Amino acid sequence: MRKRVLITGASGFLGSHLCDRFIKEGYEVIGMDNLITGDLKNIEHLFKLENFEFYHHDVTKFVHVPGNIDYILHFASPASPIDYLKIPIQTLKVGSLGTHNLLGLAKEKKARILIASTSEVYGDPLVHPQSEEYYGNVNTIGPRGVYDEAKRFQESITMAYHRFHGLETRIARIFNTYGPRMRLNDGRVIPAFIGQALRGEDLTVFGDGSQTRSFCYVDDQIQGLYNLLLSDYSLPVNIGNPHEITILEFAQEIIKLTGTKQKIIFKPLPQDDPMQRQPDISKARQILNWEPKVSREEGMKKTFDYFKNLSKEELFKSEHKDFSKHNRN
Ligand SMILES: NC(=O)c1ccc[n+]([C@@H]2O[C@H](COP(=O)([O-])OP(=O)(O)OC[C@H]3O[C@@H](n4cnc5c(N)ncnc54)[C@H](O)[C@@H]3O)[C@@H](O)[C@H]2O)c1
Repeated sequence: MRKRVLITGASGFLGSHLCDRFIKEGYEVIGMDNLITGDLKNIEHLFKLENFEFYHHDVTKFVHVPGNIDYILHFASPASPIDYLKIPIQTLKVGSLGTHNLLGLAKEKKARILIASTSEVYGDPLVHPQSEEYYGNVNTIGPRGVYDEAKRFQESITMAYHRFHGLETRIARIFNTYGPRMRLNDGRVIPAFIGQALRGEDLTVFGDGSQTRSFCYVDDQIQGLYNLLLSDYSLPVNIGNPHEITILEFAQEIIKLTGTKQKIIFKPLPQDDPMQRQPDISKARQILNWEPKVSREEGMKKTFDYFKNLSKEELFKSEHKDFSKHNRN
């Protein structure tokens, strides 16, 4: 009997790569998504497979899946600042009500559940690098609070289900991850820079560019998540690449990679934008026997190749995703 896995957020960036990985490992995969920020083209290559099914469903509503389920990976949530600022209530709901629904399903099916948390639970961190023991510095009422607090609640209710119901739970604190299938206009720094370079626009750096980020290539991230799911560790684990870079240096790398003749321009820093981000991955190294393997040079080349092959229409469709057809309450 093949193991069955439910992946929420399946048509998004990470969810679609997870679907590919579990299919490759021989699982029966059920993808679930309401397509609010995802795109079916990320998983359409799986539709012909007999071990893949797709449910078009909003996980903030009751979730029912017939049959047994061995594992649940809950990845449904807007993930880019532009997205969650435009759909703040849905973001809070998917982290809270959505997570509650999936924990309930995991309990009913006696399934193990892995929750996609984020480095944003550390807010604008006062310790560096960030280890799992750091409790964070989050502005609960700032505009970004809708995402950060949803994720903090998500961790909290997951631990409550673990402690109170004995549910098998895993919590991944994911740090910035990049690669093919990111949305060009989702506002995250890598597609934003590459899109600007490909369209022949100047590269926009927010603030003076001294803020740092640490970027993890998607294949490394998926391997870390896979190891975490199959581990026996129920406390949060950071999964990311500790190789840190300032945004200004990164913009210069993009100019070199893409060969663009454009320059860097500066705009004011958005509110509560974290000044530094670097995961301490000692736990992941020790418990999951995992560390990232793909260099930024190699990962960025693969990512650039993906974006280079997008049609002109997609490249110049510069407006942000249209949320008007979705319930945003
Ligand atoms: N990519 C990163 O660098 C990163 C970093 C930290 C955490 N994460 C977390 O990983 C998960 C996936 O992120 P991503 O980068 O793939 O984002 P994404 O926007 O590409 O994918 C999210 C998916 O969830 C779906 N979704 C949103 N609300 C839903 C709902 N109510 N019901 C059903 N589906 C819903 C979207 O349509 C989309 O397909 C998120 O939980 C995010 O918080 C990602």
